[in-house]
Amino acid sequence: MAKKTIVTEEQIAHQYEYMQFIARMNAERAQVRGEKPRAFTQTFGCQQNEADTERIAGMLREMGYDKAEKAEEADVIVINTCAVREHAESRALGNVGALSHLKKARPEVTICLCGCMVQQAHMPEKIKKSYPQVDLVFGTHALWRFPELLYRRLTGDKRVFDTTGDEGGYIAEGLPVLRDGGTKAWLSIMYGCNNFCTYCIVPYVRGRERSRSPEEIEAELRQLVAEGYKDITLLGQNVNSYGKDLEQDIDFSDLLRRLNAVPGDFLLRFMTSHPKDASHKLFDTMADCEKVAKQLHLPFQSGSDGILKRMNRGYTAAHYRELIAYAREKMPEITLSSDIIVGFPGETEEDFEQTRALVEATGFDMLYTFLYSRRSGTPAAEMEDNTPHAVKQARFERLLATQDKAVQPRQDAYLGRRLRVLVDGTSKGTEYPLTARTEGGLLVCCAGENLRVGEFAEVTIDKTSLRCLFGRGDET
Ligand code: SAH
Ligand code: SF4
Ligand code: F3S
Repeated sequence: MAKKTIVTEEQIAHQYEYMQFIARMNAERAQVRGEKPRAFTQTFGCQQNEADTERIAGMLREMGYDKAEKAEEADVIVINTCAVREHAESRALGNVGALSHLKKARPEVTICLCGCMVQQAHMPEKIKKSYPQVDLVFGTHALWRFPELLYRRLTGDKRVFDTTGDEGGYIAEGLPVLRDGGTKAWLSIMYGCNNFCTYCIVPYVRGRERSRSPEEIEAELRQLVAEGYKDITLLGQNVNSYGKDLEQDIDFSDLLRRLNAVPGDFLLRFMTSHPKDASHKLFDTMADCEKVAKQLHLPFQSGSDGILKRMNRGYTAAHYRELIAYAREKMPEITLSSDIIVGFPGETEEDFEQTRALVEATGFDMLYTFLYSRRSGTPAAEMEDNTPHAVKQARFERLLATQDKAVQPRQDAYLGRRLRVLVDGTSKGTEYPLTARTEGGLLVCCAGENLRVGEFAEVTIDKTSLRCLFGRGDET
């Protein structure tokens, strides 16, 4: 088994030196130009990638770049890519393609491509050949070396590629981070994945599972709470295997308890849980911990045991139902969501019906449904796949219709109820000009003189739609 590497303090200090070199270069340029150089970042993919971009943005700020709102205004452009489905790749590559004009007009702009897509073995060659406008390519394992790589590009003349990483992967602490502000924050508790679901590229591009130490996680949480963040989501591809690689005896439930004890008025969410490792202990802990939101994202992918087996998911539909029943017994108010793949190789009409039946029977508050996308290098890519695209598309739409039908009564059940929400932004609507989230993560558009963005409030629900509740705060 490939081992994890903990980046030493010395190595991080080294990166800070590169950040200072670049900051000095930028300060000189700013004097000549009369304004600071600017950097633009764009993120594809999941919350893990968003969290990574926040580290990249933190490093860019440390290097003296202001934030650019558009690629056209930037001196450095960083595109953080995803490889989970073909669509995500083609969008990222499309955007890179469109930047070739910009590069011709301003050859001094530095275009960087990073993240999961470039970590795939065939990608460096493809980018070298077909995307000459790209200056710097770094994979998920090289993220912490970004300052050094950028320095090399800015002071040399060759294109820089660093997509090494068939080793287990790194844990790098102490990098700067620039969050958006607001009420929500991501907090990575672990990286990588060991599950190798047969359709999925993530284990190949993110390396092996590795957990941050509970001390580091708690320190970051305390920092976030001190900065005023109130809605904090713990991130990992499979948070239920947190701690397995640590020397100390700690699992995810223990970590939740420890974080729940941190003082302050905040909510803890987490994603993603894997049904094969989600335990009764976890649900008992959630029920016990008042700061842990009663919200569970538990992807089941398929309702057919045959398909689950070929996906290498390690559980059955019956086991999944049992988990949901236990979670609901412990937390009757819990909000549930799931991911589903439609059209996995060999999926029959009967298999699909089992998925649809599970959706119908469970009653999810939110569902993320994906059409299977073939990822080269994964075992499923070699499986026979005879189902025509049109058939898969029709199944996909039937599933969405099933979900819409199931969710309406769930939403309507909130009519007239008073809910505690965290107000988190403004909406376009005039009647309900603010947005908020319930503890379970449901979207509420709301109105009320006493509501303040960034604060918890009580609202009474007076209208519902498929995707949104509408509520009013108490008037004084
Ligand atoms: N680690 C998480 C999910 C990460 S990817 C988990 O196991 O739950 C997010 C979702 O993308 C997955 O849950 C799955 O539904 C979907 N997905 C992953 N690979 C896919 C593929 N090749 N085609 C279509 N959907 C895919
Ligand atoms: Fe992919 Fe499965 Fe790992 Fe999730 S658990 S990231 S679906 S391999
Ligand atoms: Fe995509 Fe990588 Fe996340 S492949 S879904 S950005 S882990």
